[in-house]
Amino acid sequence: MTRGRVRIAASVLNADLADLAREVRRAERAGVDRFHLDVMDGHFVPNITFGPGTIAALRRITRLPFDAHLMIAEPSRYVGAFVDAGCDSITFHVEVDEPIEPTLRAIRSAGRAAGLAVRPATGLEALEPYRALLDIVMVMTVEPGFGGQALLREPATKLLDARRLVDHRPWSGELHVDGGVNRETAEYVGSLGADVLVVGSALFRKGADPARETRLVRSLAEEGFAHAFRGDRPPAPRDGWVRVTTLPRDVGAGLVRTLEGDGIPVIFLRGDGPIAADGVREYDILVPVAADPIVRDRHADALATAEAAGRDARA
Ligand code: DX5
Ligand code: ZN
Repeated sequence: MTRGRVRIAASVLNADLADLAREVRRAERAGVDRFHLDVMDGHFVPNITFGPGTIAALRRITRLPFDAHLMIAEPSRYVGAFVDAGCDSITFHVEVDEPIEPTLRAIRSAGRAAGLAVRPATGLEALEPYRALLDIVMVMTVEPGFGGQALLREPATKLLDARRLVDHRPWSGELHVDGGVNRETAEYVGSLGADVLVVGSALFRKGADPARETRLVRSLAEEGFAHAFRGDRPPAPRDGWVRVTTLPRDVGAGLVRTLEGDGIPVIFLRGDGPIAADGVREYDILVPVAADPIVRDRHADALATAEAAGRDARA
């Protein structure tokens, strides 16, 4: 089954913390895509949860990606600890009372995805100065601090504007929606373009079947996205690839250099097209689905020049 475009991140905040390892394994078996780890320090939010030590322990029992959500007053002090604990991404709050940019840079120089989260009442303009450093924008749809709250619909609409804050990373930038996401609200947040849905109590509340909840939330969010953005056509798999063009090897290699120079991942491989003058079958050039419109827009000239050179080479 090709995984669609949304990813489900299980928040273990409301799991049975007395049996966290079992809950993590159960969620992984249920089909979640990653874990969302809610770190709270009792200062930034009126609750205290767990720290790098717990995360490092969980790191040993699953290979799924870890998204750390730091609801702490001084994230700058702990970036190294969460990197060492094995977090793949670290998102902290733009409302903290310390410089933002150095912490984003510290996360990225450790090779992890860096994100900023906004409380329901915080506008996206607060993130504007840091746009170029963002891999993740996390839109909180509850007041941070506790699981099991009802999703606030109005703050969720920030997702629609948030896309442009990560459009410099069209195939890796992620919009996370966090708080009150379940089978009742999944279609709505999917229709707003959320990429990663954080699901906590819906997976772990007593009597819940995490596999069923995961399937329901995933499919409802896909439907919401398809209806809102694709005229009811199923969304393209987030990590799908699309063929841009087919060219003789040397001509294609020039275009590949141009695209890769712009940070666009390219697959360049011999296709089943015509045999070129050099006696080698022509090469296909593939890019991530999300990058295709960028190639056709930003690199229209380079593409047209390469295809003209391809025609000349065939003449
Ligand atoms: C709240 C946390 C959320 C929350 C999600 O401060 O950031 O991740 O635990 O749990 P549910 O899905 O129950 O709202
Ligand atoms: Zn969270």
